[in-house]
Amino acid sequence: MRKVPVNLGIIMDGNGRWAKKRGLPRQAGHVTGAQVFRKITKYCEKCGVRYLTVYAFSTENWRRPQDEVNAIMNLLRQYLKESLSDFQQENIAVRFIGNREELAEDIRLLIEEAEQSTAHKTGMTLNIALNYGGQQEITAAARKLAQRVAAGELDAAAIDETMLEKALYTEDQPPVDLILRPSGEYRLSNFLIWQSAYAEYVFMDVLWPDFKEEDLERAFEEYARRDRRFGGV
Ligand code: FPP
Repeated sequence: MRKVPVNLGIIMDGNGRWAKKRGLPRQAGHVTGAQVFRKITKYCEKCGVRYLTVYAFSTENWRRPQDEVNAIMNLLRQYLKESLSDFQQENIAVRFIGNREELAEDIRLLIEEAEQSTAHKTGMTLNIALNYGGQQEITAAARKLAQRVAAGELDAAAIDETMLEKALYTEDQPPVDLILRPSGEYRLSNFLIWQSAYAEYVFMDVLWPDFKEEDLERAFEEYARRDRRFGGV
């Protein structure tokens, strides 16, 4: 049996550069990026990955031009609508992580529907990070616990790493094993910063819209070669 990460995070980077290289608007890169996302998600499930988190939109991405933000949100709407019908045959439970309050109301409703209609699935859990930032996530978790302390329900001295971890968007999910970032950038960009404390990193030169199943296989091979010690010897 080959070693596949139980919990994988992917930073789908390079859509803009891919489009620029072809003289296309940045949005065209996101359209192709969304197709690759669907293909790779299904492939991860087939390979036996149990949790996959993809970075679709960060808390910082609102700074992009409005038409680009709209294009990404529209791709998401399209994906969510299709996933409610076509994707019913997939054995994937979809969840969203990030701050929902700032999202358009129709997207919020679609998210809830997608989560509810796939909650019973027994295969891979797909977390879509949307309006997500790791620092924002940890801050929200701290606030939640602080509110319980203020209400007299919780003793501050009882707060430990396990309790804080459970207050994150990812709740009871296991730690991240592998973070994959294509496009030649070597940064974490505020992605799963708590969950990836002991993760392995694989950076690849390929741009996300060019990313293929073979690239994922290469990343898994590299991961299988790593000697993970989790702070021990
Ligand atoms: C990073 O590339 C990509 C994004 C910020 C958006 C990712 C969105 C998608 C793949 C499509 C929508 C997602 C779903 C789940 C349907 P970049 O634009 O930063 O590329 P660059 O670094 O080359 O400019």
